[in-house]
Amino acid sequence: MIDSASEGIMDKGTEQESNSPEVGFALDDSKESPDEMEAVAINIDALSLWYSGVQAIENVSLQIPDSQVTALIGPSGCGKSTLLRCINRMNELIPGVTLEGQIKIHGENIYEKDVDPVAVRRNVGMVFQKPNPFPKSIYENVAFGARINGYKGNMDELVRSSLEQAALWDEVSDKLRESGLALSGGQQQRLCIARAIAVRPEVILMDEPCSALDPIATQRIEDLIRELRNTFTIVIVTHNMQQAARVSDKTAFMLAGEERIGRLVEFSPTQELFTNPSDSRTEDYITGRFG
Ligand SMILES: Nc1ncnc2c1ncn2[C@@H]1O[C@H](COP(=O)(O)OP(=O)(O)OP(=O)(O)O)[C@@H](O)[C@H]1O
Ligand SMILES: [Mg+2]
Repeated sequence: MIDSASEGIMDKGTEQESNSPEVGFALDDSKESPDEMEAVAINIDALSLWYSGVQAIENVSLQIPDSQVTALIGPSGCGKSTLLRCINRMNELIPGVTLEGQIKIHGENIYEKDVDPVAVRRNVGMVFQKPNPFPKSIYENVAFGARINGYKGNMDELVRSSLEQAALWDEVSDKLRESGLALSGGQQQRLCIARAIAVRPEVILMDEPCSALDPIATQRIEDLIRELRNTFTIVIVTHNMQQAARVSDKTAFMLAGEERIGRLVEFSPTQELFTNPSDSRTEDYITGRFG
């Protein structure tokens, strides 16, 4: 398991700091919904998931827009990572997981019997909390996925363009043969983003991608996320509400009640959710009353 309770608790420090003052309640009723016409990339429909018979999320339905950034927020244990892992069928790697409902990516049901989970994961890349480059050279980290997929094009070009897109090229162009593990944490995370980009996925999932990074490295990743949103559909889990406000177009707020089953409370354009939430539980969370 990637997450732990202690990580959740540690992250709460950032959360508290980030609650004010941007997250105010200046009512903004004048704003028209900008998303009525937007294309849907990921359609999550009535999704429920159980770990060895214990329900973790219930009846989550979300329509994640194409080529935008969608943030998932909510207290520790509400099922954010679980939901994220459903989008590339990674939960299936955990024994005892059962699932109901469906997820369509650009119209294709990824849980259909004849769909290969490996192909789903190729199309839906993932970046984790802790940078996890392979113990290989910078070049090989980026080339790895493309090689496995039998990429026939110019590999040097692919490595270069992926590193450029991940805003890392200038820092590593003269040391491509050095180990990816020799980079700083922030550079390693951008290397992991370059590795994800190199296989040209449609969707990139990020589970608290900045929580192990210092503020400067965090800002670089946030800038990068904003740039990448024109090319990829991005779903990011974050405990930092200012980060959600800064990088995302839409935000989903999840919450697990006393029975500890995660449900979707609200899904709105980010600005609306942080300035004029429609549910009082969202308001309580973003103003730091719990979580
Ligand atoms: N591999 C697993 N096996 C069993 N239970 C799990 C597993 N992963 C998560 N859970 C449970 O599912 C629920 C949701 O966990 P999840 O990790 O999705 O929450 P989260 O919102 O990502 O939390 P955090 O903010 O702490 O990362 C929790 O009750 C958790 O204990
Ligand atoms: Mg998590």
